[in-house]
Amino acid sequence: MTILVLNGPNLSRLGKREPNIYGTRTLGDINQSLVQAFKEVAFEFFQSESEGALIEKLFEAEDCGRIQGVVLNAGALTHTSIALRDAIASVKLPVVEVHLSNVFAREPFRRHSFISEVCIGVISGFGETSYHLGVQALLWRIANTAR
Ligand code: DQA
Repeated sequence: MTILVLNGPNLSRLGKREPNIYGTRTLGDINQSLVQAFKEVAFEFFQSESEGALIEKLFEAEDCGRIQGVVLNAGALTHTSIALRDAIASVKLPVVEVHLSNVFAREPFRRHSFISEVCIGVISGFGETSYHLGVQALLWRIANTAR
């Protein structure tokens, strides 16, 4: 079982970026905690500030045949990117949308996601645990999907 954890713009700055909202753990810390918690899962991690690189990575994940699902924190692209939405819709891989913060309890512009409709579900507001819940949701979906 291999899961891709994909992170979008500004998530490379976790740890020092608005710690009152996003906490003090770095993206490396979060990734490591996933490896520790899910021993049965092989993880691939990718972060980019660029929309195109994220889309390319998603296509690569599908084409390589090695990845069974994706946990995606698209950052602000969640609220802006039709291109990313179309890319998610175009792949067969299940994608779970995750957010550290509760996007529904913040500024109104964060309440709309272009990607939720094409993801299998959304987890928002649990900090680092959002990623863990995202992995659990994917494992559940993969185990319960008839082949
Ligand atoms: C975020 C929420 C987004 O609105 C924001 O642009 C981010 C991080 C989160 O994890 O809470 O960059 O995706």
